[in-house]
Amino acid sequence: MLPPSLIRTVAAQELKWLKQHARNDALALNDLVRRRANGEPLQYILGTQPFGPLNLLVRPPVLIPRPETEHWAIHLSSLISPTLKRPLSLLDLGTGSGCIPLLLCHDWPKGSLRAHGIDISPDAVRLASDNALRCGTPTPTDPEAHDANTFQAVLASYLTSAFLDVIEPPFDIITSNPPYIPLHEYQTLPDSVKKYEDRGALFGGRDGLDFYRAIARLVSHKGVLSDDGLVVLEVGHDQADAVSRILVDTGNAFKIDIWLDPWGKRRTVVARKEAN
Ligand SMILES: C[S@@+](CC[C@H](N)C(=O)[O-])C[C@H]1O[C@@H](n2cnc3c(N)ncnc32)[C@H](O)[C@@H]1O
Repeated sequence: MLPPSLIRTVAAQELKWLKQHARNDALALNDLVRRRANGEPLQYILGTQPFGPLNLLVRPPVLIPRPETEHWAIHLSSLISPTLKRPLSLLDLGTGSGCIPLLLCHDWPKGSLRAHGIDISPDAVRLASDNALRCGTPTPTDPEAHDANTFQAVLASYLTSAFLDVIEPPFDIITSNPPYIPLHEYQTLPDSVKKYEDRGALFGGRDGLDFYRAIARLVSHKGVLSDDGLVVLEVGHDQADAVSRILVDTGNAFKIDIWLDPWGKRRTVVARKEAN
């Protein structure tokens, strides 16, 4: 619980943003304040959320990108330097707003990245496509795709491998911030999350690990991950060891690293396939 003085400061700042939004879009401030007082996330009311250098559209029920995701995506962007000579192919599983691949498309040299994002939610695929337009990132078939980084959002589930008929492997990088909240924690989430954000974006099964098992099965398929491919997975605050084990148990020769979030928690599991 925040101290009362900080709550007042945050409320004053939010009111400033709401006033600005009401002025810019000729909306009734009272309605915006009422929505906020009813627990609607500020980002859904304002309609946007910064993510690194991007200012992305957000719409319910698609998950609002979180600061911990922004943190590892920026770190990933700074670690790798793809080149025009050898463009990388990236697959983002459960792309939501498209935040992860769109940040990388923005940051990496033009023509060095071909990214796809799949999501089971039509709302997410629409939003990710709208965000790609907003960020000026073309799809592979756009005329301006020639020497640009490209991003395509595709409606598909990664619980089966059927989508691989549409998006051609191998992938050099597979990223995902999958649903990872276990049953006992989902029940305790605040209403502002449960009422507005898609359950399918949050709930990861009884122990929260169902989607990591599916990802491990997927990356074990021959030819899905390139020989020195990288898998980068956001995990819940106490899941890093369990997720590392799930990846190692696939029998792939993975070198595992764990990245910390800005608060020192082990929140990203990174597995690099060691070439045989
Ligand atoms: C935690 S959200 C992450 C969204 C976005 N990547 C981010 O970091 O903000 C998980 C996403 O996975 C999607 N999802 C859930 N089950 C899926 C499945 N079987 N196949 C594809 N996407 C799925 C949800 O719709 C949701 O958009």
